[in-house]
Amino acid sequence: MNKIFTEDLSKTFITDGIKNSVLRDINFSISQGETCSIIGASGCGKSTFLHLLAKLDDYSSGRIFFNEINYNDLNSDSSASLRLDNFGFVYQFHHLLEDFNAFDNCKIVQDLNNNKNNPNIDELLISVGLKDKFKSYPYQLSGGEKQRLAIARALSNNPNFLIMDEPTGNLDNKTSQLIQDLILNISRNNEIGIILATHDLYFANMMDKVYEIYDGGLRKVNE
Ligand SMILES: Nc1ncnc2c1ncn2[C@@H]1O[C@H](COP(=O)(O)OP(=O)(O)OP(=O)(O)O)[C@@H](O)[C@H]1O
Ligand SMILES: [Mg+2]
Repeated sequence: MNKIFTEDLSKTFITDGIKNSVLRDINFSISQGETCSIIGASGCGKSTFLHLLAKLDDYSSGRIFFNEINYNDLNSDSSASLRLDNFGFVYQFHHLLEDFNAFDNCKIVQDLNNNKNNPNIDELLISVGLKDKFKSYPYQLSGGEKQRLAIARALSNNPNFLIMDEPTGNLDNKTSQLIQDLILNISRNNEIGIILATHDLYFANMMDKVYEIYDGGLRKVNE
């Protein structure tokens, strides 16, 4: 079973000589098939933590492992392979490729990896409710549709872990509900680990475990 875990993970930003210790000595683990959410006040470090887990940013001290692979041992090529082979990431501000239509936003992910089990993009887009939007460019999509496309793109490489940063931020209740149901179905039907950062406590509580980042530390909110 694939597993991501951290040992005394810390991240400090230094801006204009001023240190900001955002994350301090975090010990966390998740196995494929488990779901968890990360809550906490704005600015507490949720996005920072997700970026570190997905190897999208460097940490200051401590260690992160994917199974026996220590992130410290990866160069930029092997980091890219780790991400493409294992992670789907939904950014807080979706980061879709504006010059590509919905289908090609997913296709580009598949073109970049060698995974033979890549899902069929037509089926993926239909499953997130974008049946009529294959050829639409991001600017032609609503906020909720863009979020759903970002989720479809994150699933395009058949990831072992889906890491999502506020996938329902700035959406109306009905669209949020649709996306929440979609994510829960995905986790039930495929053995994907889910790490979700959200301000929505109702959504957070749908996950197996809820963690809160507070004062740089990570603490478990429920069992
Ligand atoms: N690249 C950066 N350089 C300097 N400081 C940063 C950088 N990225 C984030 N920070 C700081 O790290 C802290 C945590 O930011 P982060 O984006 O992780 O918070 P968050 O919990 O995701 O907040 P939100 O709920 O508003 O999305 C903030 O104080 C932020 O200013
Ligand atoms: Mg954030």
